Amino acid sequence: MLEAKSLDLFYGASHCLRGVSLQARPGEIVAVLGRNGVGKSSLLRAIMGLERIRAGAIVWEGADISALAPSERARRGIGYVPQGREIFPFLTVQENLETALAAAPRGSKVDAELFDLFPILRQFLRRRGGDLSGGQQQQLAIARALTTRPRLLILDEPTEGIQPNVIKDIGQVIRLLAKERNMAVILVEQYFEFAQALADRLAIMVRGEVALAGRPDELDEAAVRKLLTV
Ligand SMILES: Nc1ncnc2c1ncn2[C@@H]1O[C@H](COP(=O)(O)OP(=O)(O)O)[C@@H](O)[C@H]1O
Ligand SMILES: [Mg+2]
Repeated sequence: MLEAKSLDLFYGASHCLRGVSLQARPGEIVAVLGRNGVGKSSLLRAIMGLERIRAGAIVWEGADISALAPSERARRGIGYVPQGREIFPFLTVQENLETALAAAPRGSKVDAELFDLFPILRQFLRRRGGDLSGGQQQQLAIARALTTRPRLLILDEPTEGIQPNVIKDIGQVIRLLAKERNMAVILVEQYFEFAQALADRLAIMVRGEVALAGRPDELDEAAVRKLLTV
């Protein structure tokens, strides 16, 4: 289980996260929602160790990992898919997947099972990442994060700029990873409907704080939408 406890994060004098707490248990999908600039990506980056927190604690499987480097967090079973995907455009699909093996035990290979989740990647193994569509690049970024067999998967706006049919596929994969492989999933999402249908719990952020949180069926949808509309 992942527990972010009262996280505070600053960029210089700007107070970006203010006492943010969030939990994700194995098998559970938690969606973080909020307008642009409220600190969603910063929260995920803090959990992954890409931003240093000023106060609070990040506890993963019972251990305080707040001071660990991102690579060590990856070794401990946390996978991260950044906003904007950040695949390597000049490397092939195969090579992109292999870059993730640096965090895996020596001699590890790219798991053939990955291609059952994303059949299109098997077909395009030798194609360059930059030649894939946005949706295919997103699938590649998720597959790359899964290469190390994480027990917590963190996804930052996996549906951003992607066609509806691929959004549906990505949603199905995320659900399968949580429900059949018992992965904990934390995702930032811009589409309320997608998050509502997929997540077990929602956390809505406003200006660096979690303003509302709960199961989709227990939250007041109108109140949530009000916090999300510009
Ligand atoms: N590296 C950084 N340095 C300074 N300010 C940043 C940095 N990254 C993000 N910010 C600012 O912190 C706030 C939250 O950003 P971010 O976490 O990316 O929000 P979101 O993902 O919700 O859109 C924004 O005001 C953004 O401009
Ligand atoms: Mg963001």
